Amino acid sequence: MKKILITGGAGFIGSHVVRLFVTTYPDVHIFNLDKLTYAGNLENISDIESAANYTFLKGDIVDGPYIQSIFEEHQFDSVIHLAAESHVDRSISNPLEFVMTNVVGTVNLLNAAKHIWKDNFENKLFYHVSTDEVYGSLGEEGMFLESTAYDPHSPYSASKASSDHFVRAYSDTYGMPIVISNCSNNYGPNQFPEKLIPLFINNIRSNKPLPVYGKGENIRDWLFVVDHARAIDVIFHNGRQGETYNIGGENEWTNIDLIQVICKAMDKKLGRETGESEKLITYVTDRAGHDLRYAIDSNKLMTELDWKPSLQFEEGIEKTINWYMDNEEWMKNITSGDYQKYYSDMYQDR
Ligand code: NAD
Ligand code: DAU
Repeated sequence: MKKILITGGAGFIGSHVVRLFVTTYPDVHIFNLDKLTYAGNLENISDIESAANYTFLKGDIVDGPYIQSIFEEHQFDSVIHLAAESHVDRSISNPLEFVMTNVVGTVNLLNAAKHIWKDNFENKLFYHVSTDEVYGSLGEEGMFLESTAYDPHSPYSASKASSDHFVRAYSDTYGMPIVISNCSNNYGPNQFPEKLIPLFINNIRSNKPLPVYGKGENIRDWLFVVDHARAIDVIFHNGRQGETYNIGGENEWTNIDLIQVICKAMDKKLGRETGESEKLITYVTDRAGHDLRYAIDSNKLMTELDWKPSLQFEEGIEKTINWYMDNEEWMKNITSGDYQKYYSDMYQDR
């Protein structure tokens, strides 16, 4: 039986990728390696935890000897690497943690794969999941292409850019079969409420202020998380080795326009008068080094591998809001304890 190691599978995107692979490929064994940091939550994948082709491994990618030992024990054929510290604001407060997980952790995985695959790279693949933030910030015009030069600005994007470079270096230097994808902003069920969309849905429900950074004019390109998981599936199976694929939603929104859409939808959902939730909008100090605009050109992926987003944004955001409203318990469980301290540290002096 073929064995795939997926890292970070208890997190937001990883949980959707694990579910897709476990349910679509019953003849492949999926190992999910996750440290279960604040962002990792086994509840996200409770529906597939007893599948015959699934094993959970609790562990830290920064722990080199442990990583080496699980590769030796299980002899994985391929790796899909998503585990990371993923929140830009946290990277501004604690850059070193991002270097450890995103850079050192990635190199540990590359070393372990190189060690067990040595001299025989046939049917092997190291798939690295990355972000559009490595390309930096766009002005009003243009889009990120796979050939766009790297220009990261935050400690998060610098650490992801560094990990991308290491993955390419292992291909160029040792001949390791690799593929990288760089995706735009994801939204959907199971996202930790430190990120804009779940945080604002949660705050609206609890009648708390909505902290908009700067003037709310920054632009992001939003993609439904299941469409990202589908893209990872087609790239993993049919992507060309050594290549990079950009993944985006062709769905650009200024933050303030997006927030207004969420406020209106939440007013409806909660039976509030139209305009009620918008009153919670509070402009706060901008994020340091805040990138103005991201926009992805996914033509390579669409034409070569016949992928396209399956959901229009209107449908995706409605599904997302419904999911958070129907899963209040999930939100309660992760917003008790440490989250309260994170929230007051991050927002009280803004
Ligand atoms: P997330 O923060 O929701 O989940 C990260 C997961 O990694 C968690 O389950 C966490 O427990 C695990 N993890 C963290 N440190 C670990 C360690 N040292 N060892 C083992 N596991 C560890 O992140 P996400 O939003 O799901 O992002 C997943 C990947 O996709 C990341 O690599 C991120 O850079 C990339 N990405 C995210 C987005 C987005 O919009 N969220 C867009 C493009 C790319
Ligand atoms: O582009 C892909 C990236 O998207 C991923 O690589 C990251 O892992 C992911 O976190 C996301 O990064 P962003 O910084 O774009 O996402 P975030 O949800 O933190 O913020 C989205 C926008 O909303 C951004 O312009 C900052 C703004 N914002 C965010 C928060 C949390 C606010 O105005 N207020 C907030 O409280």
